[in-house]
Amino acid sequence: MIDFPLIAVVLAAGKGTRFKSEKPKVVHQILGKPMLWYTLFGVRWIKPQKTVIVVGHKKDEVINAVNCDGCEFVYQENQMGTGHAVYTAKEYFKDFDGYVLIINGDTPLVRGETLHNAGEYLKALIRYEGADLTNYRGYRNKSIAGVVLTARVPNPYGYGRIIKDKDHRVIKIVEEKDANNQEKQINEVNSGIYFFYAPYLIQALEKLENKNAQEEYYLTDVIEILRQEEKYVYALEIPDYTEILGVNDRLQLAGVENILKERYISFWALNGTTFHNPQSVWIEFDVDLSKDVEVHQNVVLQGKTFIDEGTVIEPNCIIRNSKIGKNVKILANSYIEDSEIQDNAVIGPFARIRGGSVIKEEAVIGNFVEVKNSVIGRKTNARHLSYLGDAEIGEEVNIGAGTITCNFDGFKKHKTVIKDRAFIGSDTMLVAPVVIGEEAITGSGSVITKDVPDKALAIERNHQKIIENYAEKRKKKYEKS
Ligand code: UD1
Ligand code: CA
Repeated sequence: MIDFPLIAVVLAAGKGTRFKSEKPKVVHQILGKPMLWYTLFGVRWIKPQKTVIVVGHKKDEVINAVNCDGCEFVYQENQMGTGHAVYTAKEYFKDFDGYVLIINGDTPLVRGETLHNAGEYLKALIRYEGADLTNYRGYRNKSIAGVVLTARVPNPYGYGRIIKDKDHRVIKIVEEKDANNQEKQINEVNSGIYFFYAPYLIQALEKLENKNAQEEYYLTDVIEILRQEEKYVYALEIPDYTEILGVNDRLQLAGVENILKERYISFWALNGTTFHNPQSVWIEFDVDLSKDVEVHQNVVLQGKTFIDEGTVIEPNCIIRNSKIGKNVKILANSYIEDSEIQDNAVIGPFARIRGGSVIKEEAVIGNFVEVKNSVIGRKTNARHLSYLGDAEIGEEVNIGAGTITCNFDGFKKHKTVIKDRAFIGSDTMLVAPVVIGEEAITGSGSVITKDVPDKALAIERNHQKIIENYAEKRKKKYEKS
């Protein structure tokens, strides 16, 4: 957290032409959340007293997508450059005796800690200059105008190049399209993340011109303007260049998504989760893993998902917004959504558990079984080929292969209740609403339309007819014709 007066301005008005998309660039998703969400997460980390987001192109879509409590939005009707975008937000800082953090909305990988460290660096610079830091006020007329975060990148193409003096004071930033061949060789680039002293920023923004290759008002020109007045912006080179990667096209979007995923995987791997072929695993921000969890290849973990100790997830499983207990086995190709699986249960292979289901301890849900909005009791087995929807199933029940809860009459959904230790014969159709009593039994192939009392057998089936020697008779019939 930053302990000096700070307002954040996030730039998100651009169209993102290079995305070739109907959607504004900053709402495109990275690991299930809009790109801008991550930028804001970093900003929130340092708790600025206000966060202002500059929106423009399809602004309502951007505002809805970020759904940011406590953020304020300003509208930049025509996108005339990053300098113009910041100027649009000037009402928020024009009389502000403090600092403005400016950050491009298309820089999702920056860490909150890095922003914090940049703030600490700024404080150290000011302190070095001998200013009174007791409240960071009255700083006017001193020479430090701010800090820009930079990094050396493997491919600087497209970024503003940093030209600085030996004291790390930036002389100017040259955009790709305005750079000469020599400048293009520079691999230290502008992150698009800056801290400026607000009164200086305002003065310089008012002097911006758009005499450049793109005829835009470049925010980066502020630095050169201030330098002419002997007010300096210092370059803070950060070690991990991936944090400053900007996303201008979908290839960069994919690259950034991979880097973020790798970060999450390293975090969990170092906290006791085993990943097999981690490159193939998908894991989102709100996923929470415990020690001795084992995640095999092509597993997708999405939304708010918690997985407890010792659980194994075999290849090709998708788990979304679900809570998985201890020592659960989720066998290959299973799909679990908005559900809870309790300790020692076994799911799959090829099982589908849908919204609102609870699978209790030691229950087994086997191959080609679909469970929807149902509670499956402790030690209950449904091992093969079933549909269990809107059902409440007790403990130690056996659900035979091919059992179906007929829960929908074409208009409404109805409930099936199966009490403890009942035995449902294979291929039973349970026409809901229906209640199967404790230890009751249904005969294979029965269509059960009425409640079955405790311990009773319900069988709904024609008597079997035997015709002796039928095979011979049939043969003869064909021989004649
Ligand atoms: C910008 C920097 C460049 C830096 C790079 C880092 C300038 C002139 N250049 O270039 O030095 O290396 O970011 O990623 O600042 N935006 C608005 N309104 C506008 C224009 C842009 O809100 O009128 C927003 C965009 O939505 C985007 C951000 O500002 O989120 C940056 O704009 P973009 O066009 O992507 O700048 P770059 O060319 O990447
Ligand atoms: Ca950009």
